[in-house]
Amino acid sequence: MHRDIAKVLIYKETIAARVAEMARQITADHSQPGEPDLGEVTIVPILTGAMILCADLIRHIPIEMKIGLLTVSSYPGSALQSRGSQLLGQQLGDIRGRHVLLLDDILDSGGTLKLVVPILKDLGAASVKTAVLLRKDRPAAKEVPVDYVGFEIPDEFVVGYGLDYNNYYRNLPDICVLTPEAIERKR
Ligand code: IMP
Ligand code: MG
Repeated sequence: MHRDIAKVLIYKETIAARVAEMARQITADHSQPGEPDLGEVTIVPILTGAMILCADLIRHIPIEMKIGLLTVSSYPGSALQSRGSQLLGQQLGDIRGRHVLLLDDILDSGGTLKLVVPILKDLGAASVKTAVLLRKDRPAAKEVPVDYVGFEIPDEFVVGYGLDYNNYYRNLPDICVLTPEAIERKR
């Protein structure tokens, strides 16, 4: 095990299986009569954290789609708690009349989704659905409506599979908790 990892919360095999399941659910939901066809859907990963989820998820969704990008920062630098979400950039294309599926790595304070969903609606999206890989066990996270959740996790700071600490550790394949020494060293 990587010396900076105190424990592995979710192993990569478990993540892969759940992401495939989420994709099946999303595909099925968008194939229902009366539901938007995925051909009219724009998938929007919130960068940087959701890039790996997006890459894995969309390869299990075998239907026409567009991709848009949004960059939001809420844990700048070595912050371990949200400092409030800020929109840093966007490359959405024209989403007027399109059904947007927003992807985020983790639902924590809910600030990111609360910031971004209204922006997408203001830009003319016909609908906005949300999917997160992880949801922390804290009241604020439970209050924010979200359509798809991969895993419920304890209220701990985690890294890996796109999630970072001070922009490190995104490449760890598992969802992990860091040692206090690593947090000190990478600050
Ligand atoms: P929220 O806006 O507080 O719901 O947090 C969502 C964003 O904060 C996510 O997109 C992550 O980028 C970041 N974040 C929240 N919790 C963690 C964590 O445990 N590790 C790494 N990043 C996190
Ligand atoms: Mg993020």
